[in-house]
Amino acid sequence: MNKEAPQPPKPVDRQPSGRRAECITAPRPDFCGIERPGPCGIIIFGACGDLSKRKLIPSLYHCFAAGHLPDGFFIFGSDRIQTGDAGFRGIMEEAARAAFPETFSPDLWLKFSERLFYVCADFNSPDFFASLPARLKPLEEKFGTRANRIFYMALPPAVYETVIRRLGGAGLASEERGYSRVVVEKPFGFDTESSRHLNGVIGASFSESRTFRMDHYLAKENVQNILMFRFANSIFEPLWNRRYIDHVEITISETLGVEHRAGYYESAGVLRDMFQNHILQLLSLTAMEPPASFVSERVREEKAKVLRSIRPVPLDRLGGHVVLGQYGAGRINGEDVVSYRDEPGVNRNSVAPTYAAMKLFIDNWRWSGVPFYMRSGKRLGKAKAEIAIRFRAVPHLMFSRILEPAGQPHEKIDPNLLVLRVQPDEGISLQFQTKMPDSRACLQPVLMDFRYEKVFLLDAYERVLLDCMTGDQMLFVSGEIEELAWGLLSPVLERLEAVKDSFGFPNYPAGSNGPVEADELMLKDGRQWRAL
Ligand code: BG6
Repeated sequence: MNKEAPQPPKPVDRQPSGRRAECITAPRPDFCGIERPGPCGIIIFGACGDLSKRKLIPSLYHCFAAGHLPDGFFIFGSDRIQTGDAGFRGIMEEAARAAFPETFSPDLWLKFSERLFYVCADFNSPDFFASLPARLKPLEEKFGTRANRIFYMALPPAVYETVIRRLGGAGLASEERGYSRVVVEKPFGFDTESSRHLNGVIGASFSESRTFRMDHYLAKENVQNILMFRFANSIFEPLWNRRYIDHVEITISETLGVEHRAGYYESAGVLRDMFQNHILQLLSLTAMEPPASFVSERVREEKAKVLRSIRPVPLDRLGGHVVLGQYGAGRINGEDVVSYRDEPGVNRNSVAPTYAAMKLFIDNWRWSGVPFYMRSGKRLGKAKAEIAIRFRAVPHLMFSRILEPAGQPHEKIDPNLLVLRVQPDEGISLQFQTKMPDSRACLQPVLMDFRYEKVFLLDAYERVLLDCMTGDQMLFVSGEIEELAWGLLSPVLERLEAVKDSFGFPNYPAGSNGPVEADELMLKDGRQWRAL
């Protein structure tokens, strides 16, 4: 990494004047509502862990409160913590209250919690798995779930394999009476080999159509919207290619630090945590060809083709394509925050990257020569996720002489920009040039902006939990895509591992835009990141 990189100018932050676009809304027809799934039991392994407390149980409670869960359902948690049903319900009540401080209803919770059960488990013990059918049977009878089972791996990845093998061994993956599905959280493996291995382990018990690999970014409303936006409008698709697009920028920036996840993050780092999954998923939805139909197999097929067409990062010129960073101490939202190395559980000499910027090319007819710049980092100045499509400049600007009075530097106009805002403030904006009122021929950039009002009924986890119950895999990642994504990143990760002593971390203060070298990555191509 070049630590001596020159200070680049600040990113352009021109604020075009904007008007809210009118949204033509029609009443929501019945078939556009949320499909209520059939009965099922959800069996959560790692039920007292962070994921369960922060996401799974609050999401299920919220779905229950909104009437989206079937009448027949129960949740059966297991973990190492020594407690019983009452203790588990207490822990989860606290979690649900914290998740919905304003709307939490003790009455609804009481009804919901009657369907929560818990058993303390040793996941290494085959006896525990052998005892599961007998434990589940009375609950299945009581709640009429027809032996439909969803096994949720809310566990550290190192434990998935054991649990999945044991489920298979205990006959719990068979579908003799009801369906049997498995949900696996990210990270899915650690590199190409381990993800392939994990696919093999799962595949030995659960077919692909019964395997649900999570990537919660796919369920964010404006990420689901990418395909609608691209393929239900005729005006964008003809421009969606190398002839009209100069480059694409994908950003997921966070103000949060590593929090209490050092144990996982120290070995994962940002490339495994955010790029192998969320960022590459956003890239493939942006770049894919129209699928033959809107069904999960066809959509996943097209996404896989994009990943296959990505040009491997040249390992001998890594610096020109990948920039890494790690946050030092700084200020976020007016508060002092510590450096990554001072976070609890982090090694004081850690070289885990908390920021990465990357440039990739997709070698196909549509995208040949168009760079895709991607960045993601923790403890940055602003939290946002977006995809920005920068169109090419007009081939000839006949107003340029008027914009360039004698002795003044030439002022270029901003080419058109389309931004898909994933979060916050989900929406889409299109920037274009108009005449500055009253001038002879001056231009001003304006913004046409569509914003979703807060009309989302489901958050990302609620969406995927319901989809898993209905068996819809559209918002889940296929085993093939996991392996392709790792295939792209593993050689880069290996190479970086070999040169990690030269990283010179920390190299960006918390609350900043990331390392200056990331600006260089674009500047040397004559481009600049959008302001965070
Ligand atoms: C997770 C990562 O997958 O996504 C976290 O493991 C990250 O490190 C999170 O903070 C970001 O998700 P969201 O929905 O908060 O943008």
